[in-house]
Amino acid sequence: TEKQTWSQRFESALHPAIASFNASIGFDIELIEYDITGSQAHAQMLAHTGIISPTEGKQLVAGLEQIRQEYRQGNFQPGIDAEDVHFAVERRLTEIVGDVGKKLHTARSRNDQVGTDTRLYLRDQIQQIKSQLRQFQGVLLDIAEQNLETLIPGYTHLQRAQPLSLAHHLLAYFHMAQRDWERLGDVCRRVNISPLGCGALAGTTFPIDRHYTAELLQFERIYDNSLDGVSDRDFAIEFLCAASLIMVHLSRLSEEIILWASEEFRFVTLKDSCATGSSIMPQKKNPDVPELVRGKTGRVFGHLQAMLVIMKGLPLAYNKDLQEDKEGIFDSVNTVKACLEAMTILLREGLEFRTQRLNEAVTEDFSNATDVADYLAARGVPFREAYNIVGKVVKTSIAAGKLLKDLTLEEWQQIHPAFAADIYKAISPRQVVAARNSYGGTGFEQVSKALIAAREEIRE
Ligand code: ARG
Repeated sequence: TEKQTWSQRFESALHPAIASFNASIGFDIELIEYDITGSQAHAQMLAHTGIISPTEGKQLVAGLEQIRQEYRQGNFQPGIDAEDVHFAVERRLTEIVGDVGKKLHTARSRNDQVGTDTRLYLRDQIQQIKSQLRQFQGVLLDIAEQNLETLIPGYTHLQRAQPLSLAHHLLAYFHMAQRDWERLGDVCRRVNISPLGCGALAGTTFPIDRHYTAELLQFERIYDNSLDGVSDRDFAIEFLCAASLIMVHLSRLSEEIILWASEEFRFVTLKDSCATGSSIMPQKKNPDVPELVRGKTGRVFGHLQAMLVIMKGLPLAYNKDLQEDKEGIFDSVNTVKACLEAMTILLREGLEFRTQRLNEAVTEDFSNATDVADYLAARGVPFREAYNIVGKVVKTSIAAGKLLKDLTLEEWQQIHPAFAADIYKAISPRQVVAARNSYGGTGFEQVSKALIAAREEIRE
């Protein structure tokens, strides 16, 4: 077998099993376009600083571009013998441009190179995820705007609590996604720092210009310490945290949709385009999409945990352990993107809110009890006293098989002389919702304003 790229220091070839154990080409090929872009910037810098000639710089850049085209056309498929994407590209470059290709790696190490590639990749993916989040928010908002006046039971402890505007409920998820969007922007500030030129660990003897490559690659800053530059993966952990939180939010929404689609709730109907059947039970229509999203959440959490564990005992600077960062990052990116896409489609066209059923649901419980207590409290009864009075009313009503709206005015007045005929309006679900007009509350006036603000938030 052919000798490895590394050096003449080695007498014999690597054991084949060890070669494949060591290799990352099977997955880091994902980085190839970023590797090429990073190498082109490095080559330009080498020419710019006079470390290589301008002609050599141009040859390297052009050769690298050819590899990009070959890859895009499916004509570049390096095997395990290339070890990793960096060696694969460098080797192919030398085939294309000849000996000048061997100059590319001047004043560089795979350590600063792989850090650069990973950051370029993540920066790109973060932008894509951010725009997917915007689409997801857009669909939530579309549905919310159509359902300002649709009521839905609100829960605490999964027990009926107080009725809500469905728009208000959906806007809660809009706001989670808004934080996710902002968080990715924050993370990006630390993804977008260039380690290129940190060398293997200590810098380089060549008169390189790190600001020049950083500018070409549109990095905002450069690492100030070469050891930190090549061994930092905080940005990856931060990304995995942000990705995990996106999954938390998608998973919570999924859980609600799964509940809502059940016979027990019947709040939504799943459309055929986004539901699946059973192989044995002909009547089944299953919410596989939200179930999968909920299930896939575990993978992203796992990758975050793995990355933290990979880092915790690493001595400075680069260690091969760091090669283990990639699959988790890639899988998290792919998982988050796939889940956002599926949930956006599900909301847009796979789900129908049963507004009739929802509006009925809020009339068949005691979720207006707080409003009876508030009614008395607003008429001078100390709230705790009012609360106790209503607690008793609920108890006796349940025993009598009645709802609060079924009590006669005489019964109300026996309970407390402050009750008047307007109690019926006060406890009607619509009024119960409308009355919560405090800032950020579910009152229609508040939610109308929140809808406008949300629309504004995602404009461009
Ligand atoms: N494949 C390696 C990785 O993913 C590239 C860096 C290797 N550097 C080294 N000194 N072995 O981390």
